Amino acid sequence: MSYWWGFALAVWYAVVLFVLSLTNFHLSRLDAPTDGGLRAEKSNVTLLIWWRPFGNRDPLPDCAVRYGIQDCTLTTNRSAYTRADAVIIHHRELMRKWSLPGAPRPPRQKWIWMNFESPSHSGSLIGLDGVFNLTMSYRRGSDVFLPYGYLQPRRGERETPQVSAWHRRGFVAWIVSNWNEQHERVRFYRNLRRYVHVDVFGRDARDLISNSVVRTVSRYKFYLAFENSLHTDYITEKLWRNALLSGAVPVVLGPPRKNYELFLPADAFIHVQDFSGPRALAAYLKHLDRNHALYQRYLNWTRHYSVHVTSFWAEHYCMACRAVQASRRQYKSVSDIALWFQS
Ligand SMILES: *[C@@H]1O[C@H](CO)[C@@H](O)[C@H](O)[C@H]1NC(C)=O
Ligand SMILES: *[C@@H]1O[C@H](CO)[C@@H](O)[C@H](O)[C@H]1NC(C)=O
Ligand SMILES: *[C@@H]1O[C@H](CO)[C@@H](O)[C@H](O)[C@H]1NC(C)=O
Ligand SMILES: *[C@@H]1O[C@H](CO)[C@@H](O)[C@H](O)[C@H]1NC(C)=O
Repeated sequence: MSYWWGFALAVWYAVVLFVLSLTNFHLSRLDAPTDGGLRAEKSNVTLLIWWRPFGNRDPLPDCAVRYGIQDCTLTTNRSAYTRADAVIIHHRELMRKWSLPGAPRPPRQKWIWMNFESPSHSGSLIGLDGVFNLTMSYRRGSDVFLPYGYLQPRRGERETPQVSAWHRRGFVAWIVSNWNEQHERVRFYRNLRRYVHVDVFGRDARDLISNSVVRTVSRYKFYLAFENSLHTDYITEKLWRNALLSGAVPVVLGPPRKNYELFLPADAFIHVQDFSGPRALAAYLKHLDRNHALYQRYLNWTRHYSVHVTSFWAEHYCMACRAVQASRRQYKSVSDIALWFQS
C-alpha cells in the first residue's frame, strides 16, 4: 500500500514539475529579448511605398496631422527596405515592371497589394498568389478596405435636406475623360440622348466651369455616374464626388442596384436598370423635373449624412499604416487574389 502511494506521489510530482516547466518555458520565451519584437509592441510603423502610384509626386502626408494616426513613418526611400514593417506595392507598376523587392524578405515584414482599378483595367492578376500578406482596394473583403467614398452620419440632424437644386438651370450633366465606344456607358449615353438633353464635359467635350467638377455639376439636377466597367463594389468618385458632393442626383450605371444599396440609401440614386431602357429613364427624369416634391426625396439622405470622398493617396497610405499597426501579431499570406478580385 505505502509502496503504491509512494509511486502515485512520485508520478503526481513529476506531472506537476513537467507542467511547471512548460509554463516556465512559455513565460521565459515570451519575456526573452530575442522574441521582443512581438512582445515589446514597437508602435512605430515604417511603411515603404515601393512605387509612387501612376508616378504621383504629391508630398507624403503626416498621418498624425491629417488623420490622427500616430507613429507612422512613410517613405519612398528603398534603402529603408530591411527595416520597413510593411511595403505597399501598387498593382499598376507591378504589372508594368514586374519587379518585386529583390533582397531577402524580413520575416515579419508585410507586403501590401494595392489596387483601385477595376479588374477590367488591372491587367494580369496571375502569379500573385502567396506573394502578399494584405490586400488593399475598394473591394469589400480587402484587408484594408477603402471605398472611393462613403456617407458619414451627421452629428445631429439637419432641419431640411441640403440644397434644393430646384433653381438649377441645368438638367443632366456628364463628365467623361476616357471616351471609348466599347464602353457600356457610351452605348447607353448614345441611346439616352435621343430622348433627353445631356450636357457633356471632359476631354473631348466642353470645359468644366472654373475647372472644377463640383462647381460645374452643382448647376445640374442630375448627373450620370457611369462607371467605365461593371464590377462588384466598383463605385468610384463619379458617384461620391461628381454627383453626391455636388448635390446632383446620381443616375448610376455600374454594378447591380443591390450592390449600391450596401453603400447608400435606396432612394438616394436612380439606377439605369430600374427602367426598361433609356427611353423610360428619360421619361422618368423629365417627370422628376416637373415634380419638385418627388425630386426632393432623392436628397432626403442629406439630413442624416454627409459625403466623404477619399483622398488619393494620402488617405490610402495612412489607412494602410493603421492596418499594419493593428495586425502586428498576425501572420498571413493571400493565396487567391485573382479569383477573389475578379469575382
Ligand atoms: C516614433 O518615431 C517618432 C519619430 O521618429 C518619435 O518621435 C517617437 O518618439 C517614436 N515613438 C515610439 C513609441 O517609439
Ligand atoms: C535614402 O536613405 C539613405 C540612408 O538613410 C540615404 O543615404 C539617402 O540619401 C536617402 N535617399 C534619398 C533619395 O533620400
Ligand atoms: C425622409 O427621411 C425621413 C427619415 O429618414 C423619413 O421619415 C421621411 O419619410 C423621408 N421623407 C421622404 C419624402 O422620403
Ligand atoms: C507574408 O507572406 C509571405 C509569403 O507568403 C510569408 O512567407 C510570410 O511569412 C508572411 N509574413 C507575414 C508577416 O504574414
